[in-house]
Amino acid sequence: MKKIGIIGAMELEVEVLKERMNIRNKMEKASMEFWEGTLNGTEAVVVRSGVGKVNGALCAQILCDSFAVSHIINTGVAGSLKNEINIGDIVVSTDALHHDMDVRVFGYSLGEVPQMGCLAFLADAHLQQLAVSCCKEVNPDIEVYQGRVVSGDQFISDKKVKNDMIQNFQGFCVEMEGAAIAHASYLNQIPFVIIRAISDKADDSAQVDYPSFEKAAAARSAALVEYMLPKI
Ligand code: ADE
Repeated sequence: MKKIGIIGAMELEVEVLKERMNIRNKMEKASMEFWEGTLNGTEAVVVRSGVGKVNGALCAQILCDSFAVSHIINTGVAGSLKNEINIGDIVVSTDALHHDMDVRVFGYSLGEVPQMGCLAFLADAHLQQLAVSCCKEVNPDIEVYQGRVVSGDQFISDKKVKNDMIQNFQGFCVEMEGAAIAHASYLNQIPFVIIRAISDKADDSAQVDYPSFEKAAAARSAALVEYMLPKI
């Protein structure tokens, strides 16, 4: 049976979805609240994971173990890593990697988790295509991009750090949970996609832009997730 796990790191990334859901059950695990029911007529579990990769991975694992979800979607905001990707635009993941994983001393590529057999975790092709086509209908006034999401336990607000990230990983956007959720989904063989609306440019303006734009950006990403659910 189709059952979609939807993870946002912060309350404002999931609050709209929770409000619009027909809730059947709430379960608490690992200090996270899992809201189970239907959203836009589709079986779903919505949860706020908390910030960072450990929270993201734990949350995805609980969705697999305790809720037997068939798909995982990570919704939220991110910093742009490309000049042409503006605040408000949406990035749909092709793949995701950990920008703070570094085992180069033993011959692995920067970002590669040893013994996984891949540098980046591939997002599901159907979920990607669906997110892109639905985005053009739901948010016709913004651009949607498909590309790599890079994640680490760090808020990026420095042009030099941002530029290193672009050079090293060719990322489209940076955030703090996506790769961990992708990693857990990959290990559990659950199709996933990361959908992130841009809240800032991950440079010296990020500290000011992020609080100004995060709410509107988060709502945009959530609206797209809600719209695409019955089509999965
Ligand atoms: N989430 C939103 N903006 C971000 C940034 N600049 N760095 C890390 N995570 C983010």
